[in-house]
Amino acid sequence: MIERDGAMIGIVELKQRDLEKPDAVRPDAGKAELGYLLLPRAWGHGYAAEACEAVLDWFAEARPGEPVTLFTQTANTRSMRLAEKLGFTEIHCFEAWGAAQWMGVRAPAA
Ligand SMILES: CC(C)(COP(=O)(O)OP(=O)(O)OC[C@H]1O[C@@H](n2cnc3c(N)ncnc32)[C@H](O)[C@@H]1OP(=O)(O)O)[C@@H](O)C(=O)NCCC(=O)NCCS
Repeated sequence: MIERDGAMIGIVELKQRDLEKPDAVRPDAGKAELGYLLLPRAWGHGYAAEACEAVLDWFAEARPGEPVTLFTQTANTRSMRLAEKLGFTEIHCFEAWGAAQWMGVRAPAA
């Protein structure tokens, strides 16, 4: 949970992808998946980037050497900018749920 001045302004989540599912996208890319969501009034301050970087730093210590994946719609420009800022690079693009989807991966630190 992302908190500011005592109020919840958003969440960052790290979940495990189910790679056993027959429709799992690029199962070779890793199991961990990053997700984020901020209330619109908290956009445009760098809070999502700060919170995601903290979560990714924690994950790098907890699970050294493991990559992290991320999915977003290509039309979601804020999310695409954030993904790039966090160091995710494109590994797959596909159509789903009526929209173009982007999959990125963040390689573990050397
Ligand atoms: C995706 C989402 C988290 C991005 O939020 P965001 O606030 O744009 O992301 P950041 O934390 O990277 O902030 C970047 C913005 O803060 C600005 N900013 C202001 N002060 C800043 C500071 N001190 N440091 C860094 N950035 C700062 C940047 O200029 C940038 O604004 P701009 O894009 O207007 O130039 C948000 O749009 C969201 O919750 N969307 C809905 C959920 C969603 O789409 N999730 C992804 C689906 S998988």
